[in-house]
Amino acid sequence: MEQTEVMKPETLDDLIKILHNIFASDSINVEEVQNIMESYESKPEDWKQYAIFDKYRYTRNLVDEGNGKFNLIILCWGEGHGSSIHDHTNSHCFMKMLQGQLKETLFDWPEGKSQGDMVQKSQRILQENKVAYINDSIGLHRVENGSHTEGAISLHLYSPPFQFCQTFDQRTGHRNTVKMTFWSKFGERTPIETTVSQENN
Ligand SMILES: [Fe+2]
Repeated sequence: MEQTEVMKPETLDDLIKILHNIFASDSINVEEVQNIMESYESKPEDWKQYAIFDKYRYTRNLVDEGNGKFNLIILCWGEGHGSSIHDHTNSHCFMKMLQGQLKETLFDWPEGKSQGDMVQKSQRILQENKVAYINDSIGLHRVENGSHTEGAISLHLYSPPFQFCQTFDQRTGHRNTVKMTFWSKFGERTPIETTVSQENN
């Protein structure tokens, strides 16, 4: 196994450069990516241009396309905003807290045709600078900003990038496929008509 540089990213740009290097390789070491992302100490001046909130629901803001290997996205969660229960389309998902806190609830995949409540497996609060990881073999999750007074901002890396995911109804286990859109790309607000349905992760 090759050992990639042991360096601490000082800025978000540094982190992006390091991630480009790591993901140039075909095999990804989850722990390595998690450690690098965690070692970056979040500074608002690095990412505030991407942190565009909406009053009504959380936003997905594209920061970098990772040479086609990953998408790096900043999610802005207003007070009380949350996602549906969703999957990650066979990709790796890393989620780093840039500001505030989020609550992550894990679920098992609903079984076959069985109907009924999806049971939550575990729940945790993600603190600033921490990095969570999930993929489809770990399960499904819901992410929420439980605060009624503070927004929350998280940095998500998805590899390989994907455009669609599935959302799940907690009461029935019924699933829907949704297209994911961007509220902004590279700091520029996406034209309104292309942001019909904002969904998830
Ligand atoms: Fe997710």
